[in-house]
Amino acid sequence: MATEPIKLNRAFYQDPHGVYAALRAEGPVRTAMLYRGLQVWLVSRYAEAKALLADPRLSKDGARALELFPEGTAGALASSLSAHMLTSDPPDHTRLRTLVNKAFTARTVARLRPRIEQITDALLDDMADAGSVDLMESYAFPLPIAVICELLGVPGSDRDKFRAWSSPFVAAASEAEMRVAHEELTAYLTALVDRKRTAPGDDLLSELVQVSDEGDRLSQDEVVSMAFLLLVAGHETTVNLISNGVLALLDDPGQMAALRADPSLLPNAVEEFLRFDGPINIATVRFTTEPVLVGDVEIPADQFVMISLLSANRDADRFPAPDRLDITRPGGGHLAFGHGIHYCLGAPLARLEAEIALGRLLDRFPALELGAERAGLEWRISTLIRGLHTLPVRVR
Ligand code: HEM
Repeated sequence: MATEPIKLNRAFYQDPHGVYAALRAEGPVRTAMLYRGLQVWLVSRYAEAKALLADPRLSKDGARALELFPEGTAGALASSLSAHMLTSDPPDHTRLRTLVNKAFTARTVARLRPRIEQITDALLDDMADAGSVDLMESYAFPLPIAVICELLGVPGSDRDKFRAWSSPFVAAASEAEMRVAHEELTAYLTALVDRKRTAPGDDLLSELVQVSDEGDRLSQDEVVSMAFLLLVAGHETTVNLISNGVLALLDDPGQMAALRADPSLLPNAVEEFLRFDGPINIATVRFTTEPVLVGDVEIPADQFVMISLLSANRDADRFPAPDRLDITRPGGGHLAFGHGIHYCLGAPLARLEAEIALGRLLDRFPALELGAERAGLEWRISTLIRGLHTLPVRVR
């Protein structure tokens, strides 16, 4: 294994797939230096990625992780907003996840279909009027945020604020930006939770508040953290499934034509978009609680491990011709939603939103085309999110 940590720089984020192919050829894991100067172990091959995502020797305990962060690299992560399931191990994880799990079954989510279709159609109407739009701004962003806000019971008038607050948590932002966003969001969510306590609505947040009041199983901090997790996880990701999917189709007119010719391929196509260029680059951070052998490399205890879902999903040992988009590829097996106990809670909702969003977009605009130079599209600099800054399109 190369001894120098690879630097994940701006060029990497513009084209991670080339870098990952080289890493996979070299071995399953190697050290990497993140932009904040944090050294981690980066896992790139499918088999090892899948095994490590479900390995109980890797912990996601947020409090302990903070102690391991070198001075100056964690900053605003030291927050009350991190008392949630994605930064906890069993038994806390099991308790937190069970409470909210019932809201995210495929059946409950399917009931949201008419409302999602309505929101989608309203956005498409506005796009049709405009003619040329940024698909991120006009479509991919507003849809998931509207859905998750409705589900949680966040007033529509507050939606725009969330984009500004959540973005520093997933993209490279300064400590100061993160701190401001964190303080404002905590204050907002705390007040919202208090309102749900006195005036409950027919929404998920009111349900969670009730659960916490009935048997002290969920503290106030935990409700606020859970709301934060659902809001951020529920929209920063689905946005990029929609836009990365549209870009993949615009890049491959044959696949675009095949999907237009047979819309019943849509669910399978969504699985292929998740595999081909999923919205999450690298899964959220984990650390070793004891030495862990990966291939012939021993990762010592107390080391951060980052698992690249983007890379695992392009591993030729698992997916034949991995760099080719193929919407008829037998679906399943990709790691875009993670694996193991932290497997994405919102996967059924994300799939439904993407199917509706992509299906109706293609239906509505038979002549959809890229509205900018392909080479000029810029990707966000984020270890977590694989997504564009803007995606200009012409719809007529
Ligand atoms: C966890 C991906 C949409 C809620 C995760 C994880 C991944 C993921 C990879 C595991 C992270 C890890 O193990 O480090 C995605 C993708 C989405 C998406 C690709 C969209 C295409 C959503 C939505 C929601 C959601 C819409 C909620 C409404 C969550 C929650 C967790 C999670 C609560 C934590 C689960 C746990 O710790 O047990 N997601 N997600 N996600 N996701 Fe998603």
